[in-house]
Amino acid sequence: MNILVAGAGGFIGHHLVNRLKAEGHWVRAADTGHPQFEPSAADEFLVTDLRRLENCLQATDGMDDVYQFAADMGGIGYISNNHASLTRNNTLISSHMLEAARVSRVRRYLYPSSACVYPVFLQDSEDVTPLKEDEAIPANPEKGYGWEKLFTEQLTGYYHEECGLDVRIVRLHNIYGPLGTYDGGREKAPAAICRKVAFAHDGGHVEVWGNGEQTRSFCYIDDCIEGLLKIMESGYTKPINLGTDQLITVDGLVDAVCRAAGKRLKKVYDPAKPLGVRGRNSDNSILRATTGWQPSISIEDGIKATYDWIAAEIAKALQPVRV
Ligand SMILES: NC(=O)c1ccc[n+]([C@@H]2O[C@H](COP(=O)([O-])OP(=O)(O)OC[C@H]3O[C@@H](n4cnc5c(N)ncnc54)[C@H](O)[C@@H]3O)[C@@H](O)[C@H]2O)c1
Repeated sequence: MNILVAGAGGFIGHHLVNRLKAEGHWVRAADTGHPQFEPSAADEFLVTDLRRLENCLQATDGMDDVYQFAADMGGIGYISNNHASLTRNNTLISSHMLEAARVSRVRRYLYPSSACVYPVFLQDSEDVTPLKEDEAIPANPEKGYGWEKLFTEQLTGYYHEECGLDVRIVRLHNIYGPLGTYDGGREKAPAAICRKVAFAHDGGHVEVWGNGEQTRSFCYIDDCIEGLLKIMESGYTKPINLGTDQLITVDGLVDAVCRAAGKRLKKVYDPAKPLGVRGRNSDNSILRATTGWQPSISIEDGIKATYDWIAAEIAKALQPVRV
């Protein structure tokens, strides 16, 4: 098949290109820039701004499947401080990609939404009940990023109903793993904690945002890619969760990283930093019923692979340059 991965310079898109190439597909990548850590395996790489409809039309032309992973995106610090630009950029990309997919008559279209669409009032305690797909409405999602995701979910559904576009709407829950951004302000919690622990001396300390009691579930990238392909094959056109249902506190995450690093560190909390919701977990009933599968890679295994990769990248960057 001919497959477009939009956002293929980014974390999930790059891993997806690798997997699709390994399965023998012809892959077109589109992004404003190439991947940060290794060259793309795509057959064609369009460096392009997908906020513009004409570029989306060029990218979708001749494609069977589209995975729309292009987004202005970051960790909690970034998405809490860029509501206007992020919402505008993502609304433009998402709307124009859907319209281009319709005009180009693509066969299937997958949009990655987020657990951020769920109402904040269902996530105000660390002891959360896993979030079910039909609980997103009545709506009160996270400001900016969450509202745009919910709007685009609705728009994607309208393209299905009105134009017959065969869509998938996947609510991702905290994806992490190697080849993801780990510094510069756009990194997510697992990568940021791995970086801080890599820089810390054994017996020293590590800064933790909030009080460490916030809970989340974290899904390793290989499980995410497997789930995306299974959901694409499933024919399920409504929103569907993709994450693990293994709840862990941020303290627990820090402990897992310390074990991976073989370091004993004291946690120093900074309650002034953005926290996000108090607690969030994924209900995987629909995922299991639809695909017969759910993510299974443990946080210990996933964090070990992620920490080893980030620590090796930092060690490489710190090596003296030979002239
Ligand atoms: N990583 C997660 O935990 C997670 C969770 C929920 C949802 N998602 C969603 O999955 C998608 C991909 O996430 P990611 O973690 O790979 O993010 P990422 O930031 O690594 O990748 C996004 C890519 O989109 C590209 N991009 C941004 N603006 C663009 C534009 N105007 N034109 C073309 N490309 C543009 C960026 O250059 C980047 O390479 C996003 O929609 C994100 O909201 C991710």
